[in-house]
Amino acid sequence: MDQGQVSTIAASPENGPQRMHVRKFRQGRTRLAARHWVRGDMFATAFLNALSVVFPRGEAFMIEALHPWRDRTEGALQRDIATFIEQEAAHSREHVGFNRAIIEAGYDIEALDRAIKQFVSFFAGCGEITKLGATMCIEHLTAIVAAEILKNREHLEGTDLELRKLWLWHAIEEVEHKAVAFDVWMFATREWSGARRWLTRSALLLAVSLSFFVNRTRGQVELLRQDGLSKPAGWWQSIRHGFAKGAIGRNVLGPWFEFFRPGFHPHTIDDRELLVRGENLLAAIKLVTEGTTAGADRTSSASRNLAAEVA
Ligand SMILES: [Fe+2]
Ligand SMILES: [Fe+2]
Repeated sequence: MDQGQVSTIAASPENGPQRMHVRKFRQGRTRLAARHWVRGDMFATAFLNALSVVFPRGEAFMIEALHPWRDRTEGALQRDIATFIEQEAAHSREHVGFNRAIIEAGYDIEALDRAIKQFVSFFAGCGEITKLGATMCIEHLTAIVAAEILKNREHLEGTDLELRKLWLWHAIEEVEHKAVAFDVWMFATREWSGARRWLTRSALLLAVSLSFFVNRTRGQVELLRQDGLSKPAGWWQSIRHGFAKGAIGRNVLGPWFEFFRPGFHPHTIDDRELLVRGENLLAAIKLVTEGTTAGADRTSSASRNLAAEVA
């Protein structure tokens, strides 16, 4: 499918939810432009680094959770699962490279890696529907953080364009496939009562969010400790920066709560306009770094104007 077409479809609410597609993305060798590659901000850098470290194992867990359902579903849902798997596999591949760059910048990520291994092994003995439910919840968390990154450009402002491309591309695909695990879980639990579904998914989101918050902050604090900050100061500053006015943690609280609304579906949060903006910004950065307009909405000059801004 032509990528310009996808942007057009995503921009038109009357066309329903956006179509998903796998974007070609291969960064090759990743290098951090600086140890604190997010505007020299050690807290913002530690937050994104701590996220990146868990992506490969976390995404492999989600791929495994969805995989058995591919052959049990059909039509659009089956195609969505296949696209989801391809997208997540590509994210993992690229973040393995990014994580290598974190190590080359002087960080030891062993403790962070151990934490995600423990999370994944906790679910090893659980049933397929529980793994799927956990995936649905992780996907809600990643989708709201990704949407926030697309909504407020300042989160990635002042970063090296090559690194920004990776994070933008990942954010776009997370928002794009945010409903897949939810839809598969709804399919898997189709014989459950509405109350049982709501109670189960709400309890799962609480548990997964608590684990996500504690473990990612712990990871962030460990990286900050390696930057010379004491653990208590790391905890305090990570929470203070993460939930300050305009910060990601504070801005995602509203969409996080949405999940508890009975009748919630990920597409009730309409991110189609955000996706178009994200695609155009990614295309603009590619225009600057690669001299190509691949992925741009070719019918508008948005990407060219943005390219002048980001250059
Ligand atoms: Fe991903
Ligand atoms: Fe995802």
